[in-house]
Amino acid sequence: MHMSSPSPSCTPLYQQAEIVAHEQIAESTWRIRIDCPRLAESARPGQFAMVRLANQNDPLLARPLAVYDVFRNDQIPEHWQQTPAPTDGSNQKFVDFIYAVAGKFTTALTNLRPGDSVSLWGPLGNSFQNPAVKHLVLVAGGIGQTALLMLGRDFLAKVPSGHVTFCWGARHANFFGHTEDFVNHGMQVRLATLDGSRGHRGTVVDLLDNMEKEKIFPKNEPPAIACCGPEGMMAAVAKWTADRSFKCQVSLETPMACGIGICFSCVAPIIDREGSWDYRRTCIEGPVFDSQSIDWGAMV
Ligand SMILES: Cc1cc2nc3c(=O)[nH]c(=O)nc-3n(C[C@H](O)[C@H](O)[C@H](O)COP(=O)(O)OP(=O)(O)OC[C@H]3O[C@@H](n4cnc5c(N)ncnc54)[C@H](O)[C@@H]3O)c2cc1C
Ligand code: FES
Repeated sequence: MHMSSPSPSCTPLYQQAEIVAHEQIAESTWRIRIDCPRLAESARPGQFAMVRLANQNDPLLARPLAVYDVFRNDQIPEHWQQTPAPTDGSNQKFVDFIYAVAGKFTTALTNLRPGDSVSLWGPLGNSFQNPAVKHLVLVAGGIGQTALLMLGRDFLAKVPSGHVTFCWGARHANFFGHTEDFVNHGMQVRLATLDGSRGHRGTVVDLLDNMEKEKIFPKNEPPAIACCGPEGMMAAVAKWTADRSFKCQVSLETPMACGIGICFSCVAPIIDREGSWDYRRTCIEGPVFDSQSIDWGAMV
């Protein structure tokens, strides 16, 4: 079962847009702000844009980046940490992406400065569904937090009596950047590092286990989970939630070439209602899927 489809009002737009801020925020991790009103006004939690270096053919293909945050015209923060929470969805202008330096594109991107431009098209893909629960648990591994901030913020705006816990796992403390964005939006943050340099020594699944031991999940009020990160980690979270019959949405980060359904480079094995599976294009039918609809054995 795939999640919601892009609405007709969100026709992706190809454009060149100016960088207005760009800064390294953690080890190998950068945050970039683009002046891009149409994308800012229409992007929903979990959606992404395909981004290219403007006027360059190397690398040739655009790369997908999740929309991390959007800002209104009248709320331009002076510092990255002062991220305001737009609640009415109107008059948005700026889009923030956070990226990990992985290869050719992201390395070249680090050299761009405010005043330079990128080419991009979006918003693309479906989006997270706001779950009908009181407790939403966001689970991120590595750079997976980029798909989750807007979801937590929108959930809290729509469910004032609800609460959000953000669990984030990384190899080392140096890879955490701007955790305060989640705190400032009213989310409780729990961190785990594989080497114990910050937070719990272990994985995000340990964080979920710990919350269960602390009896944070009442039997009559199960939480919903939204997860993004490396496939192995998402498969482990999918199993943990399935064992407890908790609802879990995952945002897949399969490599993509076109982002608009033409090239089939992004397929993932998705199980249908009859129990058989077929490949689905994550750029147009995802990237967000019900975790139980993914054939993790064929994926990881
Ligand atoms: C919907 C979606 C949203 C994404 N959002 C973000 C984001 O917000 N921030 C961010 O940093 N990245 C994000 N990514 C991943 C990002 O698009 C890739 O890391 C991208 O390939 C980087 O480009 P590059 O040229 O720097 O590295 P490449 O040269 O493309 O890749 C470098 C290395 O990473 C490997 N690799 C490439 N893509 C993936 C992948 N998807 N999964 C695992 N390994 C991969 C390659 O095999 C290679 O070894 C997202 C991906 C998707 C599909
Ligand atoms: S990226 Fe081309 S079909 Fe999905």
